[in-house]
Amino acid sequence: MDLILGVETSCDETAAAVVEDGGRILSSVVASQVEVHAPYGGIVPELASRRHLEMILPVLTCALQDAGVGLADLTAVAVTAGPGLVGSLLVGVSAAKALAYCRRLPLVAVNHLEGHIAAARLEWPQIVHPFVALVVSGGHTHLYHVPAECQYRLLGRTRDDAAGEAFDKVAKLLNLGYPGGPLIEREAARGNPQAIPFPRAVCSDGSLDFSFSGLKTAVVHHLKGYGPTGRAGEAPGDAEVRDICASFQEAAVDMLVERLMRAAQEVGVGRLVVAGGVACNGALRRALTVEAEAEGFELYLPAPALCTDNAAMIAAAGAVRYRRGERAGWDLNATASLPLA
Ligand code: KG4
Ligand code: ZN
Repeated sequence: MDLILGVETSCDETAAAVVEDGGRILSSVVASQVEVHAPYGGIVPELASRRHLEMILPVLTCALQDAGVGLADLTAVAVTAGPGLVGSLLVGVSAAKALAYCRRLPLVAVNHLEGHIAAARLEWPQIVHPFVALVVSGGHTHLYHVPAECQYRLLGRTRDDAAGEAFDKVAKLLNLGYPGGPLIEREAARGNPQAIPFPRAVCSDGSLDFSFSGLKTAVVHHLKGYGPTGRAGEAPGDAEVRDICASFQEAAVDMLVERLMRAAQEVGVGRLVVAGGVACNGALRRALTVEAEAEGFELYLPAPALCTDNAAMIAAAGAVRYRRGERAGWDLNATASLPLA
């Protein structure tokens, strides 16, 4: 039996978790910083690192207490080393290094994107390779072919904004608040997804890359009154905001689902993993379920709490790397841009 302590501070969530044998969550503590950043309509990196510093020790203590284990019971410490905000990452990396060094525990470095993908293993420990993975979050929209454990081939990525970033920016344009994804989803639930024909960008070279900036710009133009409503200068009413949200969400979902299904067909792999904060979106989850069923694909879509940033997924990914004998040195550093493939 191995007990891995996972530590995650790559963005605006301070998280720690204890996972047994890479698949059973004994504890998972996430301290959100939403209230710190909400007044600014987005993450302020300096405030994020400061809050991580305040929260890291209480969160670590809480994760051990909830799991009912002490430091002496741990097998290894796994920590997100990138990608992410470097000041935020440094807090987790420094804490994990200090802990591992003092307790003579092995230290394992985890790529945050691999962590998101590993969330699927927390729900389906027996999941097998190969599969196609879509990581769709605030900072990333990446499609990978995962032929075997720890092997990743990048199939496509966003050429501009990440999908979650587009949700956040559109929510800001509509004065809905931060983070935008859940707020857009809430408004969209009572709107008409067919009200505004927002564009679905397809790369002319037939690649599996994504682009969300055109969709965001289409919303900007629509709001300026250049769109079908043609009421220049007027702020949209509540009903129109709901229609804009529903139509935007539908366009974003269509693009994500189309690329994932095309990727699976091109690679010839009928097993799909979808993770990252945007994978909490109900419309996306429904569309994925319907399309996967129509195509006869197996879909592994972790519960929403495992899709947003958490440390259980980092411990799960770390457990695999630990078993493969991978160890990070005491010179481990945080890397803001750390490619998975
Ligand atoms: O994975 P995550 O927690 O952090 C990153 O690694 O970025 O993802 C956060 C992103 C934010 O952009 C947020 O707006 C989006 O996920 N998100 C959603 C929903 N819940 C969170 N987007 C659409 N619909 C949601 N329900
Ligand atoms: Zn993330």
